[in-house]
Amino acid sequence: MANYSEEQIRSLGLNSALLPKHVAVIMDGNGRWAKQRHLPRSAGHRAGVDRLRGIIRLSSDLGVASLTLYAFSTENWKRPSDEVGTLMALLIEYFTKEIDELFSNNVRIRIIGAYEEFAAPVRSVIERAMKRTQANTGLNLNIALNYGSRAEILRAANLAMRQAISDGRSEITAQELENYLYTAGQPEVDLLIRTSGEMRISNFLLYQCSYAEFLFPEEYWPDFTDEAYLEALRTYQKRSRRFGGLEEEA
Ligand code: FPP
Repeated sequence: MANYSEEQIRSLGLNSALLPKHVAVIMDGNGRWAKQRHLPRSAGHRAGVDRLRGIIRLSSDLGVASLTLYAFSTENWKRPSDEVGTLMALLIEYFTKEIDELFSNNVRIRIIGAYEEFAAPVRSVIERAMKRTQANTGLNLNIALNYGSRAEILRAANLAMRQAISDGRSEITAQELENYLYTAGQPEVDLLIRTSGEMRISNFLLYQCSYAEFLFPEEYWPDFTDEAYLEALRTYQKRSRRFGGLEEEA
């Protein structure tokens, strides 16, 4: 449910009936943003976190059902340990500082990925955030942490298969597989945005993005303003989505 009226949404140049139900974002370019300013990479990540509030708030106000943010991939462990440490510290700070506002905006936080591999302080803060917001009914905010899509699909296939075997069946259905994805019960991704001009999907939501529209804005993530997000949504609304069928006659 949107907090904005249809009229407010129209005044932003958007059509409420054509808004994406699920937006996924690869927040790329924090390091290059910092380099451009002769700042350490950690400053880029901090500036990246500062952009979250606006994007989450707008998604919630517009009535987007799910927003999935790629915060830490299974490959990000390869980064120098001080950068991994910065990202973990930012995660703890983020969930500690923002949880009250997220809660009062009716946001439901879900972590997607093998977050149980994180150190205890990170795990406990994210578990608390999920628990505190689990009964909220507004925006589903999925934060991908230690996430990789191939691993997610494999995990889901194994879980579905285990169930099938215990039921005495030798095959699983697509629906059963989907029921074990981290995003079970949420709409498929309609729009995937990757900032910084890079045009790759990087093992993110491969199953859920089967029919998604892709946008690759040039801005580095810390420069991806609320207005840039609105512009991305306007561009999305101009795309013709046929899902393999033919264009409807006007
Ligand atoms: C990509 O930029 C960004 C990341 C790997 C991390 C994204 C994380 C955040 C914005 C902060 C943590 C999130 C939460 C939810 C608190 P990059 O470093 O790969 O940039 P580069 O390609 O320019 O080097």
